[in-house]
Amino acid sequence: MQFGHFDDANREYVITRPDTPLPWINYLGCQAYFGIISNTAGGYSFYRDARLRRITRYRYNNVPFDFGGRYIYLRDEESGEFWSPSWQPTRHDAQDYSCRHGMGYSTIGSTFRGIAASTRYFVPLDENLEIWQFTVTNHRQTPATLSVFSCIEFCLWDAQDDATNFQRNFSTGQVEIEDGVIYHKTEYRERRDHFAYFACSLAPAGFDTQREAFLGPYRGWDKPLAVERGASTNSVAHGWSPIGSHQVKLALQPGESRQIVYLLGYHENPRDQKFDPPGSQTINKKTVKPVIAKYLQPSQAEAAFDKLRAYWDGLLGILDVKTPDPHTDRMVNIWNAYQCMATFNMSRSASFYEPGIGRGLGFRDSNQDLLGFVQMDPARARERILDLAATQLPSGGAYHQYQPLTKRGNNDVGGNFNDDPHWLIIGVSAYLKETGDWSILDEPAPYDNETGSEQPLYEHLQRSFRYTLERLGPHGLPLIGRADWNDCLNLNCFSDTPGQSFQTTTNKEGKVAESVFIAGLFVLAGKELAAIAQRRGLPAEAANYLTESAKMDGVIRQHGWDGEWFLRAYDNFGHKIGSKECKEGQIFIETQGFCVLAGIGLEDGLAQRALDSVRARLATKHGIVLQQPAFSEYYLNLGEISSYPPGYKENAGIFCHNNPWVIIAETQVGNGDAAHDYYSRINPSAREAISDVHRCEPYVYSQMIAGRDAPSFGEAKNSWLTGTAAWNYYAITQWILGIRPAFEGLQIAPVIPQSWPGFDATRKFRGVTYRIHVKREGPGNRVALSMDGKPVQGDIVLASKGQTAVSVEVTLT
Ligand code: BGC
Ligand code: NOJ
Repeated sequence: MQFGHFDDANREYVITRPDTPLPWINYLGCQAYFGIISNTAGGYSFYRDARLRRITRYRYNNVPFDFGGRYIYLRDEESGEFWSPSWQPTRHDAQDYSCRHGMGYSTIGSTFRGIAASTRYFVPLDENLEIWQFTVTNHRQTPATLSVFSCIEFCLWDAQDDATNFQRNFSTGQVEIEDGVIYHKTEYRERRDHFAYFACSLAPAGFDTQREAFLGPYRGWDKPLAVERGASTNSVAHGWSPIGSHQVKLALQPGESRQIVYLLGYHENPRDQKFDPPGSQTINKKTVKPVIAKYLQPSQAEAAFDKLRAYWDGLLGILDVKTPDPHTDRMVNIWNAYQCMATFNMSRSASFYEPGIGRGLGFRDSNQDLLGFVQMDPARARERILDLAATQLPSGGAYHQYQPLTKRGNNDVGGNFNDDPHWLIIGVSAYLKETGDWSILDEPAPYDNETGSEQPLYEHLQRSFRYTLERLGPHGLPLIGRADWNDCLNLNCFSDTPGQSFQTTTNKEGKVAESVFIAGLFVLAGKELAAIAQRRGLPAEAANYLTESAKMDGVIRQHGWDGEWFLRAYDNFGHKIGSKECKEGQIFIETQGFCVLAGIGLEDGLAQRALDSVRARLATKHGIVLQQPAFSEYYLNLGEISSYPPGYKENAGIFCHNNPWVIIAETQVGNGDAAHDYYSRINPSAREAISDVHRCEPYVYSQMIAGRDAPSFGEAKNSWLTGTAAWNYYAITQWILGIRPAFEGLQIAPVIPQSWPGFDATRKFRGVTYRIHVKREGPGNRVALSMDGKPVQGDIVLASKGQTAVSVEVTLT
């Protein structure tokens, strides 16, 4: 069952009924001002940091699930009836409801009693504001008189404090109203230099800024008293809960349309120019007024929208593919790339499942996100890498997270996640391969943000590698620390006290528990770092990295192989985890995928055996589960993983982030059929037809799909902010389609299904457009290349200086 359909030509998903199983959301903004918006206009906005600069208020886990947002009410002045074109909050039975989620915008509307209305919401490039283009049309035979009420609820900036500190916050709210523009200025009098504003393009007949006055006592957003009565109260918020609402009166002839532009924005003033006149307590509006005046003009709003579209045309033009599979094309060309932008911007901070207060930018997560993002905006990827490096600790370890506003490591969570440092090597390597910009390695970056501690980025990579060498356990495998990639395998935690964080509680010394996963990651990082060192003119160092990497490969074979698959870890007592000897959790996906991906066991068949075991024990029709058998009870020595009921999350859920590791591994052993089959099982577009089972958005990946042990097998949860986005993009584009940036050029080595006759692709790479045509002439993956008609040795192409476009013919035999 479906709740809408894809409109690929417009790069939109069109939701055709409002009661989706869960809110189906979109992101607005991609630079500094952001919003999340559901298909019924729920959601909120923030500037840079979803916790510290929250602009509008949103209550998570609400009843109904999604309530509070960017709402517009229409009131028929004759009948007194009122409704919301976005369905929520009034939930009227409107016709022609649709929500079109597009690239950085959403258009939501419906028709009620012959009045059609819709709103397009977006954030213009290079501005700290959002635009709502509201259009209303009278399709009746008779004239209509209407009132249009807008409404948003302001957040008192710090979203955590806003949701908890009521004894103070109920007394601090302040606004100004000038020329119909509502300015929210709570705390502006003291230490804040920023304010928010809400403006509308038609002269309002009234306004409200105090929530209680607008809603009326004991009422909710579905029945505001001001709307019911048809008259704003011109309330001025003092304390309590400031909102922004305008009432605009319209008279529409039959067939007539009108547009209202609304602006919701964020603005900062220099500290010494906050007030006008100086010495007063009135906001200095000199620099904000021109911005407001500009975008309230419908033509300027429209031009800003066109610019946004052009921006996305450019970004999505970097890689465009045409394959025999429409789901592959749609995800690669549109939605997966788009999701990679969202994960790059948000890390795991703000979605409908991440409340924007708890998690900053993750070190591990953000480095991995680069795999799917770097081609879109290398300059921002570069900045991100240097920011991440600056939160590395002198030991080579890293803060697990940092706050985007301050860019400083998050002390509450700290470090000691022993996989973290290696992801920096993986991220930097991806950047170098995409851009060829070796200068980044000389860029100075501090440790722990300490001024004076700056060292070239390259040294950060060296320390990352050494970090593991200095932390090896009894079998010579890396010590796991608090956790490796699997945050829920907490081998030093031993938590039996309610409320403790599994991630930060450490009750064991940590000198025994080892991770085979980190070992695999280390093998890969060692090879990448060797390649980098070699090209930096450090052959001896490169050789050393290869030696260490090979040594670890040997240790994995000796102590990390269980007979038919790779072990997962050793616990605090030196007992095996992920072994046939275990009662539960005998085989884990992480090491099967990652060890093979790192090249371990490719020559002697171990890789193939590990993948056969995945197929036999972990693969399901909805994707590959994380481990089997699921943990049916809590294991003190394993931690959070065994706290989840079987089939959910890390306890044998289909964790979509690491399915692509197996997909890539299958390409490594040359099995394009298996790779694309696994890819399709979790491809959201390919699952659209079972939206009633999947329940999350069919246009983006979710972190998890419930595994076969769960009662809701096949149900996705936690959509949008997940490493799944980058890893799937990377797996399909670079390993199945095989269009892979390499240090020396663009490598083309597809491992596609046997039944595919080939495919076409356009890839912009280091300023050159590569038009690639792949033709299958035999059943295998052997590649023969020619560029502009001339045969090329090997599988890497690089256009000559001065060329802007080349054609590449690829034959597979
Ligand atoms: C989740 C993990 C997540 C971790 C981070 C856990 O509760 O299951 O997926 O990585 O929290 O804090
Ligand atoms: C989500 C976290 O963001 C990520 O860092 C972690 O690797 C996975 N969960 C698995 O636990």
